[in-house]
Amino acid sequence: MISIIGSGRVGSSIAFLCVSNAIDDVVLLNRTKDKAIGEALDIASAIPANSKFSIRGTDDYSEISESKIVVISASSSFYSESRTENLSSQVELIKEIAEKIKQHCPSAIVLVISNPLDVLTYYFQKTSDFHRFKVIGVASSLDTSRFRYFLSKKFSVPQSSVTNAIVLGEHGETMFPIFSGVTVDGKNLLSMIKDNERTLITYDVRNYWRKLRNHKSRSQFGIAKNTFDVIETIINKKEIFIPASVVLEGEYGEENVALGVPVKINNNGVSEIKNISLDEIESDLLKKSAEKVREDINSV
Ligand code: LAC
Repeated sequence: MISIIGSGRVGSSIAFLCVSNAIDDVVLLNRTKDKAIGEALDIASAIPANSKFSIRGTDDYSEISESKIVVISASSSFYSESRTENLSSQVELIKEIAEKIKQHCPSAIVLVISNPLDVLTYYFQKTSDFHRFKVIGVASSLDTSRFRYFLSKKFSVPQSSVTNAIVLGEHGETMFPIFSGVTVDGKNLLSMIKDNERTLITYDVRNYWRKLRNHKSRSQFGIAKNTFDVIETIINKKEIFIPASVVLEGEYGEENVALGVPVKINNNGVSEIKNISLDEIESDLLKKSAEKVREDINSV
């Protein structure tokens, strides 16, 4: 069973993807019960005829007790200028949720997608005391899909022609694309762009969410699909290699922080943090990103 805490646009979109792809039973939980029930009733009409699964809405945490996966997309309030705007109230919320998940489904794999993503991934893991590989912040794979999108548009190629694109670090202002390993149509990206273009593409990836908000109130489908990909991997016992936020204990020389790093994920959660080679610029950017997230963690 998959439980989703928060039945707003993102939580409901994830529920819709899980139900319409007949992945597993879904419980949609919201502090406003009617909201959860309403979304569940709507999504129930998307259950495929041959599916053995269903969906229900609730505000009762005891109903998540059979969950293999719990997704946290709950938010205390809207942010506009920065993902860390509501840092204190979001940390308070994630601590409350962590206690309830620890009580009702202590062996679940938890996917955090609420912002500020890395800080909340860290506080969920510390509050719940779940193994750090059972607490996964989904966001850097979303940033990576944006990086790949920009490159495919710039070179007018399908995304399938862009390989090894990856974005690491904070899901925030200090995230950074790794250019050094990318190929476009088999050619090394670094041989095709100038230094100032690296800066421009990095700016575009970091500010994609702001550009999107010039046209709609917040992002929804990109984060939902990237979260669904992790859910589908876990439930169907597959393995994926993506960047995601996990609590670090010395990897990349960092500890006491959660940060977007390359990980392998299987049906037990994170199976491995991959130590990819970073050039001097990239190593410095990762250090700066870890410092920024640690600063936010310690500011609460
Ligand atoms: C974004 C939100 C999910 O980057 O942080 O669109």
